[in-house]
Amino acid sequence: MTGSIKIVLCLLLSSPACLASGLVQNPDARSGFSLDGPWSRIIDPYENGYYNHRLEPHVEGYFSNRKPQNPAELIEYDFAASPRLNVPGDWNSQEKELFFYEGTIWYQHDFSLDKQPGRRYLVHFGAVNYQAIVYVNGIRVGEHEGGFTPFQFDITGQLRNGENFIVVKADNRRERDQVPTVNSDWWNYGGITRSVRILDLPEHYLADYSLQLSDSGEIEGWVQLSSGGGTVEVEIDGLAATRSVPVDEQGFARFTLAAQPRLWSPESPVLYDVRWRFNGEVIEDRIGFRNIEVRGADILLNGQPVFLRGISLHEETPQGGSRAWSEDHARELLGWARELGVNFVRLAHYPHNENMLRMADEMGLMVWAEIPVYWTVMFTEPSVYAKAEQQLSEMIARDRNRASIVLWSIANETPQVEGRLEFLTRLAEKARELDGSRLITAALDTQSEMDGGKMIDDPLSSVVDVIGINSYCGWYGGTPESCSALVWRSKYDKPVIMSEFGAGALQGLHGDPGQRWTEEYQAAVYQNNLVMLDNIEFLRGMTPWILKDFRSPRRPLPGIQDYWNRKGLLSEDGEKKAAWYLLRDYYTKRAAAR
Ligand code: GCU
Repeated sequence: MTGSIKIVLCLLLSSPACLASGLVQNPDARSGFSLDGPWSRIIDPYENGYYNHRLEPHVEGYFSNRKPQNPAELIEYDFAASPRLNVPGDWNSQEKELFFYEGTIWYQHDFSLDKQPGRRYLVHFGAVNYQAIVYVNGIRVGEHEGGFTPFQFDITGQLRNGENFIVVKADNRRERDQVPTVNSDWWNYGGITRSVRILDLPEHYLADYSLQLSDSGEIEGWVQLSSGGGTVEVEIDGLAATRSVPVDEQGFARFTLAAQPRLWSPESPVLYDVRWRFNGEVIEDRIGFRNIEVRGADILLNGQPVFLRGISLHEETPQGGSRAWSEDHARELLGWARELGVNFVRLAHYPHNENMLRMADEMGLMVWAEIPVYWTVMFTEPSVYAKAEQQLSEMIARDRNRASIVLWSIANETPQVEGRLEFLTRLAEKARELDGSRLITAALDTQSEMDGGKMIDDPLSSVVDVIGINSYCGWYGGTPESCSALVWRSKYDKPVIMSEFGAGALQGLHGDPGQRWTEEYQAAVYQNNLVMLDNIEFLRGMTPWILKDFRSPRRPLPGIQDYWNRKGLLSEDGEKKAAWYLLRDYYTKRAAAR
């Protein structure tokens, strides 16, 4: 089915072929077991475990996990005797030698299984950065590219009853034709960075589902089974009696529930306990219902104009210097954001782990979620577009039931070069095809200078619903004082979010407000930018850069940066800087003024 016919079918029929991604929804709620914990690791910069000296793929590489069968046999690796890396977790922060490491590391883990007939067994990875090849009992079961989205393989055929082993070749080398491409301003944390789980499913199972508020204020949804036929039961605690949903021969069905849910919002983040039943499996989820739309330059949440008091953050642990992945990490990071007085967070620049989104649901924080189409990706390369679309589809598939997500961002600071507008327009269309209930945005950094001010005129603005603007007045240009008088105009009658502004400061360094890197300089930049922002009549939100100092290979300044981007309002381990209080007080006033 060619792309265009598929799009027509999708738009006309919203047939399952488009909506369901093939990813099993809500893997943590499925029966099965975790493979988290210490895994053996072999550092393999020359990919010796994969290629022979003729660069031909090995028939029997490290993935075979072979042991010498006799004293004479030559085997030059041994997982059992090798050091361990924790899974989930990036490797860069676990071993000093791996701090800057980019390349291949082999992971190996033993597990036993009481294999039952009539069951499907899938292995689920929350994420592996960047490329992963997965082997079960020495057999290749699949590969995945993209460091921030989940993937799964059906390994029923490769599993044995009893002892089994899994091997993962993880490779975080940066290549020009990747998404993101070779340069970014965050640490290229490598490895199995999120949880791994074996899913134990019935032969015929509920693969995917969606539940949302319909335009009429009722509830609408769909289900996708692993194959045709059967009836799914859905029940929402305190709202709707159990509803039976018979599916078609493709295993798909749409349905509506005549129920009026209490709506989710930052003020009252109402979530309902939902139970799906099919073929002996019961899947529990917590889902909120809300409506998000734009009208002219306004953003409306549940029909009411809303101002998005936000902050940007990277997916780094509260104590800094490693990839965050757990519920506790999410609770602490979003707790700090909440303390700042925000009702909105920009999770930059890639899909963060699922715990972050579920925590945002619970805490009542609206979310800007983004795929890493960042800076100069190769816009004219069809293979690069396919990678970006895949990451977009995987992000939407994983998080479509999260009420907190109100914006899908398709790009950050992309130059106006050949192929870019077409590339991003297709991505926006794909996002709307997969999920028409959320707003599309992108962070733009090219505006025209215009008599003492800026004109928002990037043509991508006509494609998105909400325009994100990154502007560093007082840091990458102009003095802090010059910002308060800066005037912004726009060619578009659309809401604008100042998706990045800010300045660097070393926590604890004090001095004259004109001295870079002091807390006073950073505070002066905030002071003046907030005046500038208050004068932008079409501004409907902001996510200053950034909640916390984070690791960046682009920031080597000794004694100040030391490979930390210092634009945080908190130091790498959570110490507050002067600008923190300034922004908190500003948000307190804004919230009260509503
Ligand atoms: C850019 C970019 C960020 C980066 C920031 C900075 O705007 O989007 O990823 O970290 O600027 O320079 O600190």
